[in-house]
Amino acid sequence: MKTILVTGGAGYIGSHTVVSLVDQGYYPLIVDDLRNSSPEILEGITRLTNHSFSHFSVDICDKKALFSLFNQFSIDAVIHFAAYKSVGESCAAPLRYYQNNLIGLLNVLEACERFSVRKFVFSSSCTVYGEPEHKQVYETTPKRLPESPYGYTKWMGEQIIEDLHRNTLPFETICLRYFNPIGAHPSGLIGELPVGIPNNLLPYITQTAAGIRDQLTIFGNDYPTPDGTGIRDYVHVCDVAEAHVKALTYPGAAPLEAFNIGTGKGTSVLEMVHLFQSVASIHLPFVYGPRRDGDITEISANVDHSKAVLGWEAKRTVAEAIRDAWHWEQQRSKSDD
Ligand code: NAD
Ligand code: WQD
Repeated sequence: MKTILVTGGAGYIGSHTVVSLVDQGYYPLIVDDLRNSSPEILEGITRLTNHSFSHFSVDICDKKALFSLFNQFSIDAVIHFAAYKSVGESCAAPLRYYQNNLIGLLNVLEACERFSVRKFVFSSSCTVYGEPEHKQVYETTPKRLPESPYGYTKWMGEQIIEDLHRNTLPFETICLRYFNPIGAHPSGLIGELPVGIPNNLLPYITQTAAGIRDQLTIFGNDYPTPDGTGIRDYVHVCDVAEAHVKALTYPGAAPLEAFNIGTGKGTSVLEMVHLFQSVASIHLPFVYGPRRDGDITEISANVDHSKAVLGWEAKRTVAEAIRDAWHWEQQRSKSDD
């Protein structure tokens, strides 16, 4: 059985990936100090996997503790999720973001090199494309300078990995550029746990429907799109999780590859609201507000390369993702009562 070290494995995308890994016969070692996740998620993973994983509460910026884990286990591959992820917060506290996201990455890369790990999977983001010239982006679309320190940490992360490969080719690396992951595990046992007021659209919608927020504000209805609201490529988190399992078996014709992880289809904010209302059969109060700083008009993934080379494509619909996110929200509201 192959052992996969998963940094940030108790987080939103990490927890779903751990479940997919166990489903496919891997043994995950979660390295996560739970700074942005909770024991409740570990409990959910335990129930979904019959406890077929280990968890270590280690800060990946603590190089000594991290190296000691690599020394203790024979690790076949590393999937690196652990990072801070809020665009707005990164503008307010850039140092915190650069420290955690870059030092964490450097430590993990050094450990992979030192302990001869064969494969490394990096959580990248569509943020590396910035505001693209054409709305659908290919992996070969030129990257643009990001709008936020968070975006820079992903942009620089990819650059660091590219530089490392130019000289030493130490291990195969796959950068997965996620578009907008949404939804939850259909069991309702794991899902997204936003801290405080959610920044992202779907958690804001589900919290509004649950009565935690009064109304959704749609940030801008004057964009040059058919209904005036922003368009994104929303992809079910379970599909995103499965892309990581594919990355582990990908034969690695090239030592470094990037893949778009989206559906290829854009959905506007207003379409998301209507879809939610029809899936949940609930009226969702919303108002239009001004555009949010740093938001782009539209982006979606071209997924031809992911289909042809990685052998991955999204299997679930946006409506299914909304249904699962709503189920998760209802489970959580129940457990808070
Ligand atoms: P998340 O915050 O839910 O998960 C990250 C996990 O990493 C958390 O459990 C946190 O406790 C842990 N962590 C953070 N810093 C750590 C450290 N120094 N040591 C140990 N553990 C640490 O985030 P997520 O949504 O699951 O995102 C996972 C990755 O995917 C991140 O790198 C993020 O930037 C990237 N990404 C996310 C999205 C998205 O929309 N969610 C989109 C594109 C890329
Ligand atoms: C989606 C759409 C908003 C909230 C972010 C990061 C990106 C990546 C994915 C990590 C936009 C609109 C939102 C609300 C709204 N993450 N919206 N009202 O901004 O596309 O991407 O997550 O790498 O880097 O920037 O996602 O969910 O915040 O917004 O109208 O209350 O919903 O304007 O059009 P975004 P989002």
